[in-house]
Amino acid sequence: MLWLFSFLLLALLGAVQALSSSGSRLLVVLEELSEKDKYSQFLGDLEARGFHVRVESPKSEGVALFKHGERAYDHVLLLPGKSKGLGPALSPGNILEFMKKEGNILVTLSPDHATPTSIVSTLLELGIHLPADRNSLVIDHFNYDSASAPENHDVLLVPYPAPLRYDVRNYFMGPPDGVIAVPRAVGQTLGNDSPLLAPILRAPKTAYSYNPKDEADAVEDPFATGEQLNLVSALQAHNSARLVVLGSAEMLQNKWFGAKAELAGKPVTTANRDFVMKVSGWTFKEVGVLKVGNLQHYLDEGDVKKVINTSAFAAPEDNPTIYRIKSDVTFNVEISEWRGDHYGPFMIPQRDALQLEFSMLSPFHRIGLYPEARTHNSTIYSAHFKTPDQHGIFNFRVNYRRPFLTNVDEKRQVTVRHFAHDEWPRSFQISGAWPWISGIWVTVAGWLAFLAVWLYSAPTDKKVAVKKTQ
Ligand SMILES: *[C@@H]1O[C@H](CO)[C@@H](O)[C@H](O)[C@H]1NC(C)=O
Ligand SMILES: *[C@@H]1O[C@H](CO)[C@@H](O)[C@H](O)[C@H]1NC(C)=O
Repeated sequence: MLWLFSFLLLALLGAVQALSSSGSRLLVVLEELSEKDKYSQFLGDLEARGFHVRVESPKSEGVALFKHGERAYDHVLLLPGKSKGLGPALSPGNILEFMKKEGNILVTLSPDHATPTSIVSTLLELGIHLPADRNSLVIDHFNYDSASAPENHDVLLVPYPAPLRYDVRNYFMGPPDGVIAVPRAVGQTLGNDSPLLAPILRAPKTAYSYNPKDEADAVEDPFATGEQLNLVSALQAHNSARLVVLGSAEMLQNKWFGAKAELAGKPVTTANRDFVMKVSGWTFKEVGVLKVGNLQHYLDEGDVKKVINTSAFAAPEDNPTIYRIKSDVTFNVEISEWRGDHYGPFMIPQRDALQLEFSMLSPFHRIGLYPEARTHNSTIYSAHFKTPDQHGIFNFRVNYRRPFLTNVDEKRQVTVRHFAHDEWPRSFQISGAWPWISGIWVTVAGWLAFLAVWLYSAPTDKKVAVKKTQ
């Protein structure tokens, strides 16, 4: 009993501790306030994780995203409603402005309610395409729940994402045999030229998008099929604002949290509650948040390696603004990762690298940064290198962008100058110059010797010469 109690207490503490790194004000936009009960478990989970949830209908006063030019909320959750318009507060311009101010948005879709035009055009602008047919939903004749959708095949049972190649933290990875129920989802496709977009959950290979109201016998020219279709997609903007599109709003409803389903005759329990927690946690910046602390660079005299003093790391005014070409430089940067309620040291995932660029227009050096010290709240990454034989204005730049981690892009500008006239090596230190130097001195010595001989040799007898000519 005590064991159970302490387990529950731990679970409760764990839930409470996972706070968002960017504020806790959450606006839930829901048209029919009576539907709130359907989502009570999900909203309760959010509150347990420290969010101050405020549910508003789209036309009410409280839905204004800004107050005095500042964000009035940190995060927004849009639940589907009946009306086609969302009102002036949630226009595409306001939604994008909200993201420019680093607000995060979780958009949920449903084939029963036409997606509001402002959402469709906002998503289109971000490179996320929805089917033109507003009633389309994703169907799969192989991976469906035979208990709840024996006829329609529109409740998909999808395996929990296996490790995703681009999810360096394996954040969305679930138990190997986990199954997620995706009831009546609106599929999305991603514009494939945007590095900001990443799929979180793809449809199975046998799925396709289909409009059940379409009377035709065969589906002609479907919107998308198989893994082209995303059930959950993510966008992280350059300023690290996050937007996630959840194809199926029903996934958030109580009835699918740990629901019993049947896949090909076998009973399974869906892991929706866990998956939805991960998706919302990522969207609302509870995880995958990096922070750059101090940044330090200095001339390291020769081979002397300074030991990093972690308690007094980098007073930034220490950083020189000018370096000479071909001198040894050390660069240190402090990076932290959000750990639910505080910042802790950030460790680079395996198979990944953090790099420093020393660049003037294009990088002259791109070298690895390696962890050299660790404090309570950060890891200090270091690189040692020689400035290139090129003078000009250079940048120290750390540009680390990975899907599902906030972007790190830090730049420090420095000048790299030539040797000063008294900094060149002396001529006798250059072995290649020795033949010329010795040539000069041999000439000088020869000239002096000649002079000495010439000055001290006695003149010839002139009289004798005169006699001979006469
Ligand atoms: C590190 O910096 C602190 C604060 O300036 C100082 O008290 C301490 O002596 C330094 N430690 C070393 C090893 O230099
Ligand atoms: C630094 O870490 C300590 C414990 O490791 C934590 O208590 C503290 O809040 C952290 N500071 C910040 C600014 O996150």
